Amino acid sequence: MKVSWLSAVLVGAAATNAIDTISAVGNKFFTSSGTQFFVKGVAYQLTPADPLVDATQCALDVDLMKTLGTNAIRVYHVDPKANHDKCMSTLADAGIYTLIDLDTFDTYILPNDPWWNQTQHDRYSEVMDAFIKYDNVLGFFVGNEIIARANESQVAPYIKTAARDMKSYRDAKGYRQVPIGYSAADIAELRPMLQDYLTCGGNSSEIIDFFALNSYEWCDPSTYATSGYAVLQEQAKNFPVPIFFSETGCNVGGPRVFDDQAAIFGPEMVNDWSGSIIYEWIEEANEYGIISYGPKVDPTATGSNIEGGFTRAGKPTAISPDFDNLKSQWAKATPTGVAKANFKPSVSTRACPAATSGGWLVDGNVALPTLGETFSGTYTTVPSATVTESATAASGTSSSTSSTNPAPPTKEIAGMGAGLVGVMLFFTFWL
Ligand SMILES: *[C@@H]1O[C@H](CO)[C@@H](O)[C@H](O)[C@H]1NC(C)=O
Ligand SMILES: *[C@@H]1O[C@H](CO)[C@@H](O)[C@H](O)[C@H]1NC(C)=O
Ligand SMILES: *[C@@H]1O[C@H](CO)[C@@H](O)[C@H](O)[C@H]1NC(C)=O
Repeated sequence: MKVSWLSAVLVGAAATNAIDTISAVGNKFFTSSGTQFFVKGVAYQLTPADPLVDATQCALDVDLMKTLGTNAIRVYHVDPKANHDKCMSTLADAGIYTLIDLDTFDTYILPNDPWWNQTQHDRYSEVMDAFIKYDNVLGFFVGNEIIARANESQVAPYIKTAARDMKSYRDAKGYRQVPIGYSAADIAELRPMLQDYLTCGGNSSEIIDFFALNSYEWCDPSTYATSGYAVLQEQAKNFPVPIFFSETGCNVGGPRVFDDQAAIFGPEMVNDWSGSIIYEWIEEANEYGIISYGPKVDPTATGSNIEGGFTRAGKPTAISPDFDNLKSQWAKATPTGVAKANFKPSVSTRACPAATSGGWLVDGNVALPTLGETFSGTYTTVPSATVTESATAASGTSSSTSSTNPAPPTKEIAGMGAGLVGVMLFFTFWL
C-alpha cells in the first residue's frame, strides 16, 4: 500500500515537471542527461514580493523570456508559504531553471555584526523545503553581497558556515544534491581570496557548491583584455566548483551590446565559467531593465501595480536595442562543453589564503562558527585537510592581480548593491 501510494506521487511529480535536474561536478554543471549546462540567466524580481506566485504574470514574462533564449532566472526573495506550482511548471515547460536566494529581509548575515543562528537556519530551510520539489531549481544562494567592502571580509567564515549547514540539512532530509552557493560583490582587493577561501580547506562538506560573481566590469564598448575579464579568468582557472556571473550587464557608456557574453561563452572563458545572469529583467530607476511594463510614471504616483515610478506588472515589452542585442549574443553562444561521462575533475578544494594587511582578514583555514555563534573578533586557525597540489598551484598563480585590475572597486560593487538599496527602500516604503 505504502509503496504504491508513494510511486503514484512520484509519477505525478514526474509528469508535471519533465525537465532534467542539474548537479555540479568539479567546476561544471551537468544535466541529468549528462550534458554540460551553461547558465543564460536573467535577474527576475519585479517588486520585493515573491515573483513566482502570480501565475498569470509569470506566464506573460516566460513567453517573452523564451524569445530571448534564457534558460534560467535568479529570484532574490521568495515567500516559502506561497504556492509556486503553476509558475514553476510554466518555467519548466519553457526549459527555464531557477536560482533562489535562501535569505529573507530579516535573515541576512550582517557584514559588521555577523551571526548564524537557529532563526536563520529555520528561515533558509523553509525556502529549501518549499522549492526542493521542483526539478527546475538549479541552485540556492546562502547570501548576496554580504561582503561589500574589503574590511568586511572577516564575516566570510559565516558564509561558509551557512553553506555547510544548509548542505547538511539538504543531505539529512534526503533531498537531491541541489548546488548551494554564494553570490559575491566584485571587490578587487578581495580577489581571489574570497573565492579561494569559500572553496578551501580540504573538506567538501564545508565549502560552497558554486561561486557566483556580481560583476559590472565590462561596460560596452570594451574587450576581454581591457574590461578586467582577463583577470577574472586567470583567477577562475582550474576552480574546484562551478563559477559564473550571478549579475552582469553594465549599462554605463554606450548602448548595451553585451559583448561580454561572447567572451564568457567563447574560447577564452568557456572552459572555466558556467555562464551568466544578466541584471535585470524589469526596467526601474537604475535603468538596468531589458523589458518594461509601460512608460515611466511620476515617482510619487500610486496605483495598481505602480511602485517607485514604474509599472511592475502586465504584458512585458522588450526594451530596444538592449533586449535584441542580448538575444543575438545568446543565439550565437552555443558551447557544448564536455560530456559528464568524459569529465574527470582534478581539483577538490583550494588552499586557504593567508591574511594580508589592509585586505583579506581571515588567516588560513579557521574553525568555522557553530550554529548560534556570534562574532568574537578573531578566529582560531586549524590546519587544512588534504589540499591537492594543483589547488595550491592554482591559488599561487592568481594571488597578486588586484593591482592590475583596471576597474575601480567602487564601480565593481555598484550593481545590485545599488539595486538592493532600491529594493530595501521600497520595502520600507511598503511597510
Ligand atoms: C538569532 O539572532 C537574532 C538577532 O540577534 C535574534 O533576533 C534571534 O532571536 C536569534 N535566534 C535565536 C534562536 O537565538
Ligand atoms: C570599513 O570601512 C568603512 C569605510 O571605508 C567604515 O565606515 C567602516 O566602519 C569599516 N568597518 C570596519 C568593521 O572597520
Ligand atoms: C568535514 O566537515 C563536516 C561538516 O563540518 C564534518 O562533520 C566532518 O567531520 C568533516 N570531515 C573531516 C574529515 O574533517
